[in-house]
Amino acid sequence: MRRIAVLVVAILAITAGYYGYARMRNPRYFRPDPNPAAYRGRAPLQYQSYIGGQQQNEKTSKFEKFPALTEIYAGMPFSEDYYTTRNHQYALEDIRAIRRGKPTAFCLTCKTADYSWLLKEMGEANLNAAAFNQVDPRVTHPISCIDCHDTRTFSLAITRPSLVKGLSKIGIDINQATGAQMRTYACAQCHVEYFFNRSTNELILPWDNGIKPEDIERFFQERNWADWTHPAAGVPLVKIQHPEFENYQGSVHDRLGVSCADCHMPQVETDGKAITSHAWISPLLTIDESCGRCHGGDNQALVRRVQNIQGEVLTGLKETADLMGQAAESIQAAVLLSATSQQLAGARAAYARAHIRWDWVQSENGNGFHNAALARRLLTEIRQFVNEAIALAQQGG
Ligand code: HEC
Ligand code: HEC
Ligand code: HEC
Ligand code: HEC
Repeated sequence: MRRIAVLVVAILAITAGYYGYARMRNPRYFRPDPNPAAYRGRAPLQYQSYIGGQQQNEKTSKFEKFPALTEIYAGMPFSEDYYTTRNHQYALEDIRAIRRGKPTAFCLTCKTADYSWLLKEMGEANLNAAAFNQVDPRVTHPISCIDCHDTRTFSLAITRPSLVKGLSKIGIDINQATGAQMRTYACAQCHVEYFFNRSTNELILPWDNGIKPEDIERFFQERNWADWTHPAAGVPLVKIQHPEFENYQGSVHDRLGVSCADCHMPQVETDGKAITSHAWISPLLTIDESCGRCHGGDNQALVRRVQNIQGEVLTGLKETADLMGQAAESIQAAVLLSATSQQLAGARAAYARAHIRWDWVQSENGNGFHNAALARRLLTEIRQFVNEAIALAQQGG
């Protein structure tokens, strides 16, 4: 009797264990924990490095660097409240603090590790249609382990459906991606330009025509899409978000096969073990690890090269911002002199073409370093379009 009881209990335990295991393996039931502390035991050094990133907590208003932003974004919320980035762990705190209106809960897509279970529970359209304040109280974790990993193995995983759909538009099947490509795609889940389709409540990467700035410009032109109308220039415009992935394409380092993680998540030595850094501090603070394998030698000189590019791009942005201000004033002056919309159509179209390029260079978070050649080309085009806008406005007026 005792033996049979033991046998029954053993069979039950094995069956339950098997079902539990199968359930865990089945993606339909697997609920990864959004809390980073849940992985502390299994990945103590990566966890420590992730927490260490909190030191990157400086948050500065973009208006300090660019007073002209109030003019360029006049009439829309970015003219009032706009900050530089900081560490991933502040993403949720920062979206909550921002005073700009939050249209819907889609803003949470790139700010919280709770996104994955919300997506399963609500479905993309319902989640994106819900009010921000309705979903926000249910969310507790900022960007964390499950956003980039299948935490059963810690292999890289894509958790944002928008990227999978976006990449397929440019002929890339995510399932065929190499390990090296995944080290960039993991970041492209969020560090991209996007478009929120209000009729389908879908978050879309505007890559139907390709991912160069002019391809994305054409995407918005074809849909007649605008985020707001600039009050002085009287022209509908698009706000570019953070096109790090698109901007990086074709750069010196991209052509060499360098991934986002190669620079931003280098191999570092902790407790005598080599791990992938999870701190996301500036690569200029880890030059030996991030850049040394190619740029051995004088680190100070390398920092200067980066700063020279960033300085040149910043100066270019400031000069062209002044020109954009002049163009808006010229259009406004022409309106006062009774120029018609038809007469000003050319000037306004040229202003819009200058604006989307200016906004691209300004919004991209490498300050020009990620693709210096592209930043230079765009700055040249901005000057051309903005001079055209001024000339046409003067003719029209
Ligand atoms: C923004 C994306 C991202 C987040 C968030 C993230 N990781 Fe990683 N993780 C990576 C990348 C990239 C690698 C390198 C993978 C490769 O090269 O295949 C990596 C590698 C790892 C590895 C493999 C060992 C190593 O050091 O290379 C472990 C373990 C790991 N991460 C744990 C974690 C833990 C724990 C968290 C949360 C505290 C976390 N990761 C959060 C991107 C991320
Ligand atoms: C789930 C969305 C998401 C993913 C995935 C993601 N990021 Fe971010 N990242 C953000 C957001 C949002 C911020 C801005 C946070 C803030 O300012 O509060 C940010 C900020 C950063 C910063 C700025 C840090 C600072 O101190 O200013 C770096 C660098 C960065 N991310 C690199 C990466 C890299 C490299 C990857 C891929 C390995 C990656 N990110 C993946 C959303 C993401
Ligand atoms: C060749 C190295 C390299 C590669 C590759 C690279 N970055 Fe960067 N990134 C940098 C440097 C250097 C900076 C400027 C840091 C500074 O000014 O302190 C930077 C800045 C940033 C910032 C702003 C951080 C801040 O502190 O303001 C973000 C966000 C970012 N990169 C994301 C990415 C993403 C996403 C990718 C991939 C598409 C990528 N980077 C590829 C080197 C790189
Ligand atoms: C895989 C090798 C490799 C890595 C890693 C790498 N670089 Fe480069 N980088 C190159 C090569 C090759 C060039 C082109 C030759 C040159 O300008 O030195 C280049 C060019 C540059 C330039 C000039 C860029 C331009 O557009 O004119 C700067 C600045 C630079 N690298 C900084 C860095 C920094 C900072 C890091 C680390 C955060 C880094 N690189 C990582 C190989 C690399």
